[in-house]
Amino acid sequence: MATAFTPRVLSGIQPSGGLTLGNYLGALKRFVEMQDAGTHECLYCLVDLHAITVWQDPQALRRNTREAAAAFMAAGIDPARSILFNQSQVPEHAQLAWVFNCVARMGWMGRMTQWKDKAGKNSENASLGLFAYPALMAADILIYHATHVPVGEDQKQHLELTRDIAAKFNHDYKVDFFPITEPVIEGPATRVMSLRDGTKKMSKSDPSDMSRINLSDDPDTIAQKFRKARTDPEPLPETYAELKDRPEARNLVDIYAALAGISTDEVMAQHAGAGWGQFKPALADVAVETMGPITAEMNRLMGDPAEIDRIVGDGARRASDIAAPILAKTYDIVGMISSR
Ligand code: TYM
Repeated sequence: MATAFTPRVLSGIQPSGGLTLGNYLGALKRFVEMQDAGTHECLYCLVDLHAITVWQDPQALRRNTREAAAAFMAAGIDPARSILFNQSQVPEHAQLAWVFNCVARMGWMGRMTQWKDKAGKNSENASLGLFAYPALMAADILIYHATHVPVGEDQKQHLELTRDIAAKFNHDYKVDFFPITEPVIEGPATRVMSLRDGTKKMSKSDPSDMSRINLSDDPDTIAQKFRKARTDPEPLPETYAELKDRPEARNLVDIYAALAGISTDEVMAQHAGAGWGQFKPALADVAVETMGPITAEMNRLMGDPAEIDRIVGDGARRASDIAAPILAKTYDIVGMISSR
């Protein structure tokens, strides 16, 4: 009989820079919705060990990690209802990742598009950690027997690999121990695109700051970035379907819908025929209205870094209480002798 697993959500964000509107709409906003639905136990982590797979300045990493924790809380993650923590403070992640390094195959890792994109032609010089990255991500999820993982579209392949690792472990050791986790890739903004190029995703690592809206941007900067966003010369059409071959225009409509909490059809009904000189300021207004209070609260929380550290430290202890017995059982399954 298949094991029944507790409904449990885990997801994470890399504190490798300030969070973007893509992180907010594709992930953070969804994290809050899943917390508020009350159907799952929720764990959310700042994946600092993943961040160092590429070079991070230590001071900047510490600041970005605290700022990301502040952004989570400002966006509505309640540390009393969700477990909010730093990945490096729960050593079971790295310990289970080692076991998964021995389960996953080199070929699986080599096929990851994120690895190919990030390592590029210079893979000889990429860190070993960057190659093994997806095994650590699988460990983040499976160390809690998480059943559901809300993410943006770009993480789909990593979640398929997580399922492959769980299935191979269960098969090799003839157990039904790890759940086959479900990705939750939902909502109107699972892939927010760059404001400079509608074929590239919005990313904190893009060299151009004009390509993204940061959670820390002030209203003037937000308005300026949308004003300068690349578009085509045509006004907005009658229907969303007509935006099929207009990636930049479609992206701005998607962002509007996600921020305003309405459907893309409603955006079209409200703005059909509008030129960019009309639509872009309207978009900036919705963005400032939604993000302004979050940015203000994030900045307020950043005024007391010790309190942020206390909150995530408490989260790490609660996370460890769930992780420790799962790691112990994993070690037992693979044949490690427990200490007395
Ligand atoms: P990361 O830090 O790149 O992004 C964090 C989350 O934000 C989503 N996201 C986007 N969604 C829509 N449009 C965008 N432009 C956009 N950019 C980012 C991502 O899909 C993600 O959900 N490997 C992960 C971090 C991770 C993780 C995990 C996630 C580590 N362990 C365990 C889930 C479960 C990453 O690099 O995400």
